[in-house]
Amino acid sequence: MPCVKGLVESGCLTSIPSKYVFPRKSGDDSMFSEAEAIIPTIDLSLLTGGTPYQRSKVIQDLANACLDWGFFMVVNHGVPKKVMDDMVSGCLGFFDLTEEEKQEYAGKQLFDPIRSGTSFNLTVDDAFLWRDYLKIHVHPNFHAPTKPADFSEISEEYCRKAREVASELLKGISEGLGLEESYIVKTMEVDKGSQLLVANLYPPCPQPEVVMGLPPHSDHGLLTLLIQNDVSGLQVLHRGKWVPVNPLPNSFLVNTGDHMEILTNGKYKSVVHRVVVNEKATRISIGTAHGPPLDAIVSPSLELGHREGYCPTYHALKYREYMELQQSRRLDGKSCLDRIKVHQSDHIPQDC
Ligand code: OGA
Ligand code: NI
Repeated sequence: MPCVKGLVESGCLTSIPSKYVFPRKSGDDSMFSEAEAIIPTIDLSLLTGGTPYQRSKVIQDLANACLDWGFFMVVNHGVPKKVMDDMVSGCLGFFDLTEEEKQEYAGKQLFDPIRSGTSFNLTVDDAFLWRDYLKIHVHPNFHAPTKPADFSEISEEYCRKAREVASELLKGISEGLGLEESYIVKTMEVDKGSQLLVANLYPPCPQPEVVMGLPPHSDHGLLTLLIQNDVSGLQVLHRGKWVPVNPLPNSFLVNTGDHMEILTNGKYKSVVHRVVVNEKATRISIGTAHGPPLDAIVSPSLELGHREGYCPTYHALKYREYMELQQSRRLDGKSCLDRIKVHQSDHIPQDC
C-alpha cells in the first residue's frame, strides 16, 4: 500500500481514488467559528513557579478546561523552541525517506516498537485516510528509527521534555480534583508509564472536502500533547460543534484521553477530535500519548469515588488491552470507551 505522500508526489493524481472518499453524514460539519468558542490557554510557568494565588488560579483554569473542553493550549512550558522545531523537522525528514527505507518499519503488530504506514488500520478501514504515520513506543523503553541520522537524539530529548510537561499538568489536574498533587502520577505510575509518539503527515489533497485526515476519535491515554507545523487542520468537538484549532506559536495542544475519563469516572471526559486536510500545504503533527504502564489495570479512582459518592461506571481493564481494542477497530468517535462502560444490567458493587 503506497503512502499518501508517494501518491501525491507521483504527479498523476487528477482525481481522488474512490477508496479515499470518506463517507459523511449530514450535520457532520456543524462548526463554531473561532471567535464563538475560545480554546482555553494554560500558562504552565504559573503552575510551576507562580505565587500561591497564581498557582491556585491556574489549577482552577486547568480544572475548568478539563471539565468544559477536554482540550487546551499550554504556553510558557519551558521546552525550548529549538527542541520543538527540530522534532518537527526530524519527522519531516523521516517521511522524506524513500518508500523502501520506510518499509523497513512497516510493522505488523500493534506493539512493534516502531511502525510506519498509511491510513489507520488498513485491515479494518472502510475508507483510507489522507494520512501517513510513524508510531514509536518511546517509554519506558526508548526506540527510534536509525534514519534520519539525528532523529534518535532529537526525539529522545523531545520525548523527555514532553513527559516533564505532562507530569506537571497531571499534578495540577490532581490538585484541581481535590487530590494530592502526586495522586495521578503515583497511582498511574506515570514515571514508568507508556509514552507513544505518533507523527502524522497530511499531504495536500486536490479535493480536501471528500477525504479525511483522521476521523472523529478520542485518544486512549491520560493526556496527549501535540505540536504541529504552521498548517491547521485539527478540529475539536465542543458542545456538539467543531472548533477549528489555530494554535499559538510554540504552544502544546493538550487533550484529555479515555484513561482520564476512566480514572475520573467520567468527570473529565475524553475529547473527540478530527483532522481535515487542505489543497495547498502539507500539515505535520506530532502527538505523544501519556499513560500508565501497559500492564497496569485501570479502573475509576476510589479516592475520588468515595468523596463524590459514585459507583464506578467503567470496567477495569489493562491499558494494553484497551489499546489493542482501540487500534484493532475502525476509529469511530468514542465507540471503544463505550464498550467498557458499566451498564445497569451489569454487576453493581454492593455499596453502590
Ligand atoms: C492523533 C490526532 C491530531 C492531529 O494522532 O490521535 O488526533 O492534529 N492527531 O494530527
Ligand atoms: Ni487523536
